Amino acid sequence: MLTWGKGEKLLLEAKNISVSYGAVKAIEDVTFHVNSNEIVAMIGPNGAGKSTALKAVFGMVDILSGDILFNGESIKDVRPDKHVSMGISLVPEGRRLFPSMTVIENLEMGAFLRKGNNGKANIENILELLPVLKDKRKQKAGVLSTGEQQMLALGRALMQKPKLLLTDEPSLGLSPSYVDIIFEKLIEINKSGTSVLLVEQNARMALEIAHRGYVFKIGKIFMEDTGKNLLESKEVKKAFLGGV
Ligand SMILES: Nc1ncnc2c1ncn2[C@@H]1O[C@H](COP(=O)(O)OP(=O)(O)O)[C@@H](O)[C@H]1O
Ligand SMILES: [Mg+2]
Repeated sequence: MLTWGKGEKLLLEAKNISVSYGAVKAIEDVTFHVNSNEIVAMIGPNGAGKSTALKAVFGMVDILSGDILFNGESIKDVRPDKHVSMGISLVPEGRRLFPSMTVIENLEMGAFLRKGNNGKANIENILELLPVLKDKRKQKAGVLSTGEQQMLALGRALMQKPKLLLTDEPSLGLSPSYVDIIFEKLIEINKSGTSVLLVEQNARMALEIAHRGYVFKIGKIFMEDTGKNLLESKEVKKAFLGGV
């Protein structure tokens, strides 16, 4: 199995998982892992099963077969809110903010499930990490730009101080400058000790920041390698990077 860096520990392990929506097989016999301190990208065409794999990790879909281990413990039958308290947070596709609540209130919602009450100090940390939110703290989430909303969704997920951050299509619909910012922030978050599992349409940027990546194709993983090797792979270049 591929490993990355020195002294990395296996954090998340999805073993031979299959998920269906009624008669539709979304993923079949898919195996992937995330080590501590890694950024792992999942790329592949629309409908290939990337979001389903992420939802499976977060307990949002029923897993028909296989298992998912987090720190060696099965989380296959654990509900999403429990995932959060175990150290896994999700930034969902489309952000799913509370539009009529302010930036601060949205961040507070992120701390809601956490035990203890040091959420306030944490809000200041989040605003330091995502300074664009500082001047907007009293504004309603619904009036923010798409890029600012993505920052807020990221900040809300970080309120739980996750060990593993899941993020589905974080760059979708963002202006080019915000695309750069979001990827820079993911690197920064990772450097501070959080593993990141990233689903992305923007294969090039995802692979540029990822230590490792998985390429999905019709419900299966058909390639896995380091981000660097995938960027240089002929097959990946042809299919996803618009070149040969
Ligand atoms: N809620 C759903 N109900 C029925 N089918 C779904 C649902 N979500 C996804 N699918 C189907 O499952 C497959 C995988 O989808 P998805 O995981 O969203 O792929 P990706 O994120 O790679 O675009 C596709 O065939 C898709 O149409
Ligand atoms: Mg998707």
